Amino acid sequence: MCGIVGYVGMRNAPDVLLEGLKRLEYRGYDSAGLAVKSDGRLEVIKEVGKVADLARLVEERQLEGCQGIGHTRWATHGGVSVDNAHPHCDDCGNFVLVHNGIIENYLDLREELEAAGVTFTSETDTEVIVQLLARLYQKDMLDALVKLTEKLRGSYALAIMNREIDGTFYCLRKGSPLILGIGDGEGFCASDVPALLPYTRQVVYLEEGEIAAVSRDGIQVWASDGQRVEKSISTIDWEVSMTEKAAYPHYMLKEIHEQGAVLRTTLKGRVENGKVDLSPELAWDKKLVESWRKLHIVACGTSYYAALVAERVLEKWTDLEVKVDIASEYRYRHLRADTETLAVFVSQSGETADTLAACRLARSQGAHCLAVTNVRGSTLAREVHDVLLLKAGPEIGVAATKTFMGQIAALYLFALYLGRMRETLSAAEGNRLLEEMLRLPYKVEVTLEREDSVRALAEKYADRKDFLFLGRGMSFPVALEGALKLKEISYVHAEAYAAGEMKHGPIALLEAAVPVMVIIPRDGLYEKTLSNIQEAKARKAPILAVATDGDELISRHANDVLRVPWTDEEMTPFLTVVPLQLFAYHMARLRECEIDQPRNLAKSVTVE
Ligand code: F6R
Repeated sequence: MCGIVGYVGMRNAPDVLLEGLKRLEYRGYDSAGLAVKSDGRLEVIKEVGKVADLARLVEERQLEGCQGIGHTRWATHGGVSVDNAHPHCDDCGNFVLVHNGIIENYLDLREELEAAGVTFTSETDTEVIVQLLARLYQKDMLDALVKLTEKLRGSYALAIMNREIDGTFYCLRKGSPLILGIGDGEGFCASDVPALLPYTRQVVYLEEGEIAAVSRDGIQVWASDGQRVEKSISTIDWEVSMTEKAAYPHYMLKEIHEQGAVLRTTLKGRVENGKVDLSPELAWDKKLVESWRKLHIVACGTSYYAALVAERVLEKWTDLEVKVDIASEYRYRHLRADTETLAVFVSQSGETADTLAACRLARSQGAHCLAVTNVRGSTLAREVHDVLLLKAGPEIGVAATKTFMGQIAALYLFALYLGRMRETLSAAEGNRLLEEMLRLPYKVEVTLEREDSVRALAEKYADRKDFLFLGRGMSFPVALEGALKLKEISYVHAEAYAAGEMKHGPIALLEAAVPVMVIIPRDGLYEKTLSNIQEAKARKAPILAVATDGDELISRHANDVLRVPWTDEEMTPFLTVVPLQLFAYHMARLRECEIDQPRNLAKSVTVE
């Protein structure tokens, strides 16, 4: 949802900015731009399209300089055009800035500025910020920025340059992520870690409302009222190689194939003597754990589907009243959290605006809040009582795959831990389940080796326009996730239903042209799902099944079968989701879609 980078140092700023923007392109890719300060001048270049298009323009113009800011856009206010692309300048060309977020009172501010004679060149909320800043500036940058924060309502991460001030750029953060990087005689800012990784792993996380000045000599930070704040430096534990595609044609495929490894890393260090031990991360005593009666799990998109998978084991392994909700709904409902509530927020990025708002609400109501996130130091991680990290490594493909795997693995460990602490899960059952979990990395890898059969299935159905996905019990959230993957990267319409719901409406859609993907592992609901297959077959719909090795019966009922190894009923989502991810990938590839950057989507949704 828009990516920002900033640089000051000895290197050629356009090179650093373009490299950073390429690494942030998953946050937005409808237009891009950068501003460089050289010889006291602010030079701005913007282009509609990808960062590569901007790079060509930068090369043509031979832009050079040691200080600059850049932006990759995902349009919110104002269409996709060069005028609306960032950076934006004030009408005298004294200030230039890039912005991620939404200014809620921009119409009022724009009216005021227009009444004072300011002429706007774009339709964006961002231009209002820079025009306002130019009017607030009285030769003291900190004073102007404090006044600016008092006037702005909404969310923003900003990187700003002042034509009068050499060797320093300024940053502001409220409601949108921004990280500062510290190098040797150089300084950086970025919306997300991957942009910084080639240059530094020493970072400073800005808190809500903070203002920073970044120069070659270091970083200075102030609170929103202008008081100096001392910040600590954190070290990022991701490697730059983790953000590269290696030999894969797309990040998504690489990330799907990393899922066995993701499971191993998630389990590593959290299983001691055959038991789950999360005590180093969650320092909870029995009294605290037993004080909870309700468990709320809140998330968006794929993370929400991971939460739905976990809901089914949490209600089985613990005695808590479990309620899972979509963050954008939860925040406006009257589902009261209280001091007897443990509220879990699942978010890959830790920056999703709705999830953050839901977390703030639950916390204000007295709930104990836990984040399950992939990004250490993310806003969510810093706003909760406790954090359970996914350890999936950076995910660059816009469609979440390996982080779904990491999320369900972390949530299962958490469910086993909670069940044992509350003594609602017996030691014998806990051990048995954990033993099977430890076999899952291998079983996921076996499933991945069967990619050819998935590709062949995609070839057979690549021209279809509509799909129905069905599953029951543990497989219902997997059906939802499979349909979401297909929709978002191959633009094929796909609906997912609990298999038993089909005859309450969606069955009307069925005909020979509508394939039905049924997730039907060998579990306690197998025969029920088989009956639903009959109902779909009777309407001439082709049946594609994801089923367990050795299940011969399914071959008689389905037109095509994708196989996964046997596992316990509770563990089936770890395996059944894999062929669905691969199916979506190959469908998208055959349909020549932009797999890593699907249209209209951005990886991190930092606006409501
Ligand atoms: C789908 C996808 C999105 C995210 C959702 C939540 O492939 O990636 O649906 O799952 O935007 O994002 P996080 O987990 O970062 O809160």
